[in-house]
Amino acid sequence: MKFAKRMSRLGTETAYAVAADAAAYAEKGNKVYAFHLGDINISTPPNIVAACKKYLDEGKTGYCPAAGIKPLREAMAAEINRTHGTDYTWENVSIQSGGKPIIGKFLMTVMEEGDEVLYPSPGYPIYESQVDFFGGVRKPYIYKEDDKGFSMDMDHFKSLISPRTVAFVYNNYQNPMGVCSSPEEMKELAELAVKNDWIVLSDEAYFDLVYEGQPQSIVSLPGMKERTVILYTFSKKYSMTGWRLGAAIGPKEVIDKINKINTNDEACTTHFIQWAGIEALKGDLAYCDKLVETLKERRDVCIETLVDCPGIRVHVPKATFYLFVNVTEAMVKMGITKYEEFRLHMLEKTGVSFCTREHFGAVLPGETDKYIRFAYSGIEVPQIREGLTKFKEYIKTYF
Ligand SMILES: Cc1ncc(COP(=O)(O)O)c(C=O)c1O
Repeated sequence: MKFAKRMSRLGTETAYAVAADAAAYAEKGNKVYAFHLGDINISTPPNIVAACKKYLDEGKTGYCPAAGIKPLREAMAAEINRTHGTDYTWENVSIQSGGKPIIGKFLMTVMEEGDEVLYPSPGYPIYESQVDFFGGVRKPYIYKEDDKGFSMDMDHFKSLISPRTVAFVYNNYQNPMGVCSSPEEMKELAELAVKNDWIVLSDEAYFDLVYEGQPQSIVSLPGMKERTVILYTFSKKYSMTGWRLGAAIGPKEVIDKINKINTNDEACTTHFIQWAGIEALKGDLAYCDKLVETLKERRDVCIETLVDCPGIRVHVPKATFYLFVNVTEAMVKMGITKYEEFRLHMLEKTGVSFCTREHFGAVLPGETDKYIRFAYSGIEVPQIREGLTKFKEYIKTYF
């Protein structure tokens, strides 16, 4: 069969291949410590589950508006106004089947073929895949590492700007590195966006998973609300990854276009799930606080266990549920140069399964240090301790 050329430009989320390797290893009777997928093994709050069942019983099973049901759009606008200090109305909200679809719909709406898009690398791999697919030009921006952790390399970022740059994808509280912008950095980014007239996708998938201080959004800064689309998802905050519920929030003229894509695409997000989403938004914040506490405890156990591991460097992330670990020295000692070899070797020897830098966008020229990502959202504390101790003890044998 002959396929459309554009299909050769579509990337994927290769973390799923890591899951398949881990499953194959487990099938042979081995114990796996699953640090690869950013899924959550904590159940959805019971009030949301109960609401879903109730609305299903009540027959909220037909089509509904492509943009989403009005009560959810209203509740979503109110929630963003509460957390971001904005003044959105329901017309600024387009309900989506999760956060992920917003990336492609945003690019389809604002990017012409040949336009340049700034996006993070390492970063969520779907940005790069969708820029390629819709014929944009990749402009990946990079991060620096020092004793305090990771931060954006602003000199590099500025060097990428050209008259063809139309959009900036910003993932504060970043996957996979857990990077948080300082207020100064966020201000500088907002000023650059205004000066260069960019449209911004603010991917806020982890906005509510911040361990220290109050989360901040770039949309709250001067000149940003009129040029920013927020990617909101229920997936992480309410532990609803498989429910597929999210929202794009932004200027009405962009949202109307995204709604039109919904009409052509999925028709509408699952009707009864949207009603359950209202329950989530008005609901039990204590449950969400508990989720953050649980994740923080796991983060701390990861750090405690890895802190004295030779050949690696680990920083304490202030947000997300990921740990981005520099394994350069360990790989050198082990005589391994390729990421895939290191990943499969460690799985084979210790049962610890993780993603590497290669799963977060193309490795860039000049990158010398090597990194892996541990996701601690789907694994309990005793297993974290056991798995990462095995990882550490194995690496120690090379020192
Ligand atoms: C940075 C980032 N953006 C967007 C998403 C997509 O979220 P959802 O699962 O709601 O589609 C994810 C999911 O892991 C993510 O890490």
